[in-house]
Amino acid sequence: MKKVLWSRSMEFNNIKSKFPIFKQKIKGKPLIYLDSANSSQKPKIVIDEISRFYETEFSNVGRSVHTLAVKATNKFEETRDIVKSYINAKYREEIIFTKGATEAINLVANTYGDKFIEAGDEILVTELEHHSNYVPWHYLRKKKGAIIRFASVNEVGEIDIDEFKKHITEKTKMIAFTHISNVTGTIMPIKKIIDLAKSKKIPVLIDGTQGAPHSVLNVQDLDCDFYAISCHKMYGPNGLGILYAKKKWVDELPPYQGGGGMISEVKKDEISYADSPTKFEAGTMQTAEVVAFAKSIKFIQDLGIKNIEKHENQILEYGLEKLRKDNSVNIIGNPKNRASIMSFTIKGIHPHDIATILDDDGVAIRAGHHCCQILHDKLGIPASARASIGVYNSKEDIDVLCESINKCKKVFEI
Ligand SMILES: Cc1ncc(COP(=O)(O)O)c(C=O)c1O
Repeated sequence: MKKVLWSRSMEFNNIKSKFPIFKQKIKGKPLIYLDSANSSQKPKIVIDEISRFYETEFSNVGRSVHTLAVKATNKFEETRDIVKSYINAKYREEIIFTKGATEAINLVANTYGDKFIEAGDEILVTELEHHSNYVPWHYLRKKKGAIIRFASVNEVGEIDIDEFKKHITEKTKMIAFTHISNVTGTIMPIKKIIDLAKSKKIPVLIDGTQGAPHSVLNVQDLDCDFYAISCHKMYGPNGLGILYAKKKWVDELPPYQGGGGMISEVKKDEISYADSPTKFEAGTMQTAEVVAFAKSIKFIQDLGIKNIEKHENQILEYGLEKLRKDNSVNIIGNPKNRASIMSFTIKGIHPHDIATILDDDGVAIRAGHHCCQILHDKLGIPASARASIGVYNSKEDIDVLCESINKCKKVFEI
């Protein structure tokens, strides 16, 4: 038992060596990457797989019958099976590749919206949502005369379930909310909300962009209708996302975009469509990215998602404790269940100045509204600084972050 614990911690100790990006210096300093909620860095096995695929197996998928095309198609579809089993989906048709979580949510808002939303119907979201889980519903509101209701976030950055319930009416046709907030790190009580929605027969979409890199996923157990994933935050290639959509929906929903690949038969006056997932994957897909994403899942599985959670939580706790000791730092939110994200402000210093000064020390954080203007408006601030944790971070990274914040305060004489 002791040996297992030791070897796990060793894996995390040496983990930066698995990411080529950490070989370089930023402004002469080692890179301290605390921006994984924005996009994670890529391990060598993922980068190598992209090269290997382009060098030896590349072809477009699902079209030609030549050797390379068949090989590439098989590899592409293999990733679908790997994702299916990783998130414990029941059918491979439920796994749709998209260009990101944004496109996954737009796909649902468009197709479900076109077929099932009428004027006066309500979509329930929360004040924690990323713009990607608000703007697509706003388009639908404009197009169909639907109404968007917002469940409030309280002072600690949580959604109160009783307050949430008050927004559910007989007109509610979709509940769409984030798994983990990309500002406060709040882990939402997703199972509770899904059960509540199920009891009222309302479909649920989970924006799992921040959830998937940090949590065990079991969509059958969750029983959500849709779960959106961003592969580039899961140590995977850019330009790739996944929509999990329950079989019932992939069968019922119309196609999203029209083009090559998604049809069954095209005549001058009539078109029939392929079945899912092809129905939702119009045009040339991201072949190398999909193939390489299988290696991202392998990377996560080799470390173990529960070990990742534990490792990141230790660093998060350490970081929160250190930042809390600094009276000039105001940490946004204090949710009971929090993952990997520490957003903060320092009175008298604009978040962009914080990020710029930190960058001089090789510390990469994000500054801005993090695509959550509704939440920042509620907090009464235009922007915040955000340090977010990934598998490659360590307590030493947090020490450098805090030293750099001190330097920042000296520059601004705080
Ligand atoms: C909570 C949340 N939802 C959605 C998105 C958009 O994801 P993608 O970049 O895959 O479109 C992000 C990206 O930052 C996010 O943090």
